[in-house]
Amino acid sequence: MTEAKRASMILDKNFRVGDVDDRLYGAFIEHLGRAIYGGIYEPGHAAADAKGFRQDVLGLVKDLKVPVVRYPGGNFVSGYNWEDGIGPRENRPSRLELAWRSIETNEFGLNEFMDWVDAANTEAVMAVNLGSRGIDGARNIVEYCNHPKGTYWSDLRKKHGYATPHNINLWCLGNEMDGSWQIGHKTAEEYGRIACEAGKVMRMVDPSIELVVCGSSNSKMHTFPEWEAVVLEHTYDLVDYISLHTYFGNQDNDTANFLAQSVGMDDFINTVISVCDYVKAKKRSNKTINLSFDEWNVWYHSHEATAQVEPWTTAPPILEDVYTFEDALVVGCMLISLLKRADRVKIACLAQLVNVIAPIMTRTGGDAWRQTIYYPYLHASLYGRGYVLQPVIESPVYDSKDFTDVPILEAVSVVNEEDDELTVFAVNRDLEAPLRFECRLGNFPNYEVVEHITMTHTDVKAHNTETNPYNVVPKSEGNAAVDGDMLEALLAPLSWNVIRLAKTKK
Ligand code: AHR
Repeated sequence: MTEAKRASMILDKNFRVGDVDDRLYGAFIEHLGRAIYGGIYEPGHAAADAKGFRQDVLGLVKDLKVPVVRYPGGNFVSGYNWEDGIGPRENRPSRLELAWRSIETNEFGLNEFMDWVDAANTEAVMAVNLGSRGIDGARNIVEYCNHPKGTYWSDLRKKHGYATPHNINLWCLGNEMDGSWQIGHKTAEEYGRIACEAGKVMRMVDPSIELVVCGSSNSKMHTFPEWEAVVLEHTYDLVDYISLHTYFGNQDNDTANFLAQSVGMDDFINTVISVCDYVKAKKRSNKTINLSFDEWNVWYHSHEATAQVEPWTTAPPILEDVYTFEDALVVGCMLISLLKRADRVKIACLAQLVNVIAPIMTRTGGDAWRQTIYYPYLHASLYGRGYVLQPVIESPVYDSKDFTDVPILEAVSVVNEEDDELTVFAVNRDLEAPLRFECRLGNFPNYEVVEHITMTHTDVKAHNTETNPYNVVPKSEGNAAVDGDMLEALLAPLSWNVIRLAKTKK
């Protein structure tokens, strides 16, 4: 084996980044491909309940403790009439779905989604259409969902069987409106104005709602970060969050460079924070805008297959990335990036949840299984709640094609004060060398290792399938141990590590 490298970390209770908002572990379900039809909803499937919700999928979702799920898009929302998906099913129209070139039957709509959200123990994040539509559709959907009774839209909801309002708290003002591919694509000025007016009227209907305004679709957009500055000039006083989206890929089959991409995510987050604070200063405002990283993941495996799929079919198998072991490491690094700025990133949605670039895969009529990326997401959601400590790290670095000084060790730790627990999430990016990890526990006396979960594999391209669902799985086989005030572990080359510590009960 290659000789071990060394990296160190210092933990101190007083180096506090911020509290983790539970919504950092959100996900996303779009009317896209088989996310809904054949994914979460498949009437007639052996595991489906009376509402058509697949219980096998629900079980996997519930295990993840997903706090929020964004819906119904994505690009889909910019051409969607939400009214098509309510009321008696036999009256719902089938429509050409232009964003993904499919047929939307509208068999599943807003109320079905809210039923599913209840069943999954989660909450909805609702996006409104500011592409093909505007203020009217936006105010009406808030009235339909959140107004108790006595008006046209609230009484219609009651007539549809929902006496109690859905009370959806978080609303996205459109989706990726900076993108030329978006139905109703706008300039920053145009979008800033419509977002401001639509948001204003939505708040008139329900003053308690929170609003997310669209930031850039990714940091490579030529309008980034001017887009954020202009949009916030128009909306600063109204909105609560600005969105960020990022997808990574390994098209060049360069694992070292692929693993380094989360460094770009750090830069993206830090730049958006700077822009928010620039506008804050310019407006002499006391209000702080936080970040909603409401689409993030690895996405590239399925590009070619998606291009081959026949258009204008219902629930086509598109964007069905089969995730590899190295993708799980990248997802782990991305989770660490989100946690490192937990002071400002308050919402994040892994895109997406089922079948479409997702941690959970199904076969229509068949089984459901966990993809490789399911596991880091699970671990972060289960053990990454509390407050984040400033990662003070010394690590060897490397240069890759697109990045310089990439730390071999990517790590962060989260304290759960209630349960006296401390968790370190760590990725060893080195392709060959193990990493001797030495972590000073300082003012965390009497903590011991409860579990050291690791994910490693000899094949970076290894993946899980319906017939081989446990090929890439985490194991509780790490060797982390506490000696005095030092936590020590040998992190395997290319590994995801979750070191769980708890205060000794004496
Ligand atoms: O998540 C898939 C797509 O990626 C979404 O529809 C869109 O918002 C983004 O470009």
